[in-house]
Amino acid sequence: MADENLDIDALLEENRVVDPPEGFTANALIQDDSVYRDADADFEAFWASQAQRLTWSRPWESVLEWTPPWVKWFAGGRLNISVNCLDRHLVANADRIAYYWEGEPGEQRAITYQDLYRDVCRFANALRALGVSKGDRVGIYMGMVPELPVAMLACARLGAVHSVIFGGFSADAVRDRMIDAEAKVLVTQDGGWRRGAQVPLKDNIDRALEGAPSVKSVVVVRRTGQDVGWVEGRDAWYHDLVAAQPDACDPEEMDAEDPLYILYTSGTTGKPKGILHTTGGYLVGVATTHRLIFDIHPESDVYWCAADIGWVTGHSYIVYGPLANGTTSVLYEGAPDFPDKDRWWSMIERYRATILYTAPTAIRSFMKWGTEYPAKHDLSSLRLLGTVGEPINPEAWMWYWEFIGGELCPVVDTWWQTETGMILITPLPGITRLKPGSGTKPFPGVVADIFDENGKSVGPNTGGSLVLKRPWPAMSRTIWGDRDRYVQQYFSRFGPSVYLTGDGAKRDDDGYFWLLGRIDDVMNVAGHRLSTFEIESALVDHPAVAEAAVVSRADETVGEAIVAYVTLKASEHGDEALIADLREHVAEKIGKIARPHGIILTDDLPKTRSGKIMRRLLRDVANGRTLGDVTTLANADVVDQIRTLAASAPAEE
Ligand code: PRX
Repeated sequence: MADENLDIDALLEENRVVDPPEGFTANALIQDDSVYRDADADFEAFWASQAQRLTWSRPWESVLEWTPPWVKWFAGGRLNISVNCLDRHLVANADRIAYYWEGEPGEQRAITYQDLYRDVCRFANALRALGVSKGDRVGIYMGMVPELPVAMLACARLGAVHSVIFGGFSADAVRDRMIDAEAKVLVTQDGGWRRGAQVPLKDNIDRALEGAPSVKSVVVVRRTGQDVGWVEGRDAWYHDLVAAQPDACDPEEMDAEDPLYILYTSGTTGKPKGILHTTGGYLVGVATTHRLIFDIHPESDVYWCAADIGWVTGHSYIVYGPLANGTTSVLYEGAPDFPDKDRWWSMIERYRATILYTAPTAIRSFMKWGTEYPAKHDLSSLRLLGTVGEPINPEAWMWYWEFIGGELCPVVDTWWQTETGMILITPLPGITRLKPGSGTKPFPGVVADIFDENGKSVGPNTGGSLVLKRPWPAMSRTIWGDRDRYVQQYFSRFGPSVYLTGDGAKRDDDGYFWLLGRIDDVMNVAGHRLSTFEIESALVDHPAVAEAAVVSRADETVGEAIVAYVTLKASEHGDEALIADLREHVAEKIGKIARPHGIILTDDLPKTRSGKIMRRLLRDVANGRTLGDVTTLANADVVDQIRTLAASAPAEE
């Protein structure tokens, strides 16, 4: 990324403002902005005071040691994460529900903190019996079943480093990651449920492990009951292993800087990057942000983060943050449209969920399906909504606020990354005036800035490169086995003390941050550097549109011509008149320069398995190139459809 142009012209203006709903602030954990001032005055003291909320077996000697780009938080401190997530809640809250789990076929389980503690201890003992000890790596390839957080916490109890691989990944992806991590044990299931079908997890593992000799034992949770292959001496059923294990297990005392997990992100070069997170700072970061951003009242809230635990959102905000805070969460195994498109809303009604945290891609699907699905259910228990994963188009924000939140629930748009470990730019729901589409302000103690090409901070309403100028406790410590790549990727463009996020952003006159998507997606049209996201948002602003992806195509006249792929709401019908209307709509919203040269209507857009729009593939299609790496694509069939459409698209203007 060293030579890349980082400038962006920011064009879209969004002027709507939503104040914290009446009544919310009065009960909120944060009711005034002194937290920002206090954290700013002494950010180390702020984080130290948050760290005091956790249970340490030995206090830290220093809060922060920063030798850019290398960092240590709470050095000398010792703790065990599973003790913080489980044992310490048993004194007063053993019977509180940790997870309401619902299987896709409909089974329901209420798992208390006492239950979870017992299951974690038993499985930790079982792993120990398999030879797992502090520092060993354990792969986890599972769906959203209760044994997944159990396995993660069991590793944490022993000081083993887990590496969860999203259950939708292929055998090849699992193999690469197991080789890179040199995992000793792998935990999986016979299969998982997805839209009524069985996903063959164990079969994938059998193929993956053909080339990953470090894995000596495979533990299999029986979930679907489907037939599976079996390697004697290597494979064991989870239920057999835990049956005879005691209900208690001595936790390993960990150093604050000991590794907790490796989580792989795809990266642009194809070689998976193993992002390493550690123990003390990570837990302080995720517990604090979870508590204050979601305004957690553990005695009354039912919190639902609807991400998959296979992504960082699930690690930080389904497992570690919520459990450290003694929260009751909802955990759901399956698809949002099984058996019908109102599954989530029926679950919110059933569990009286108070907080929902999901991604723009899910919100846009719900918009596409129509408001009749949420309307069928009583969603009045909700009091707070959150979003993460991509910039949220203002219109999708408004839809979420109106049809899910009933105009009563603040929407916290939370910006962060696998690498940052915790949310860094976000509203605080009791005090922040919200602007649809803006992540608003850095979390207390966090310093973000927007740089131009030369590393100079840009003024208001100018696009540039989002950077972080001060360390935060949950930041990743390195890329597993590749320190050079870590420095090169994140700490070289503007020197070793400035973290490069790779995202574009602008600030408005109030100092609010507006994320503009990945810098790699910026287009150069007739001398202007345009963010694809702003044009997409202008399209989604049109009442007929549910979702849009914008890319560029090489063009002799303008340099790059704008091509938009657009998905309409289920009730809408597309024709030439609508396409003309959409082009005009963009011109009106942000200017003629951004008017798409071509618009292609499509049923769906290519997404990564975590739900992000894959513009890179659409760029290849638009430019008639052979497609690049498609291994992380979730819905491969849609690309064929789009190629056919692109070939027969009407002449562009
Ligand atoms: O581009 C930003 C986008 O997602 C990227 C991080 O992706 P990942 O590591 O998979 O983690 C996703 C969950 C934290 C960022 O670089 N992104 C994430 N949240 C937002 C966002 N873009 C805009 N607004 C957000 N709220």
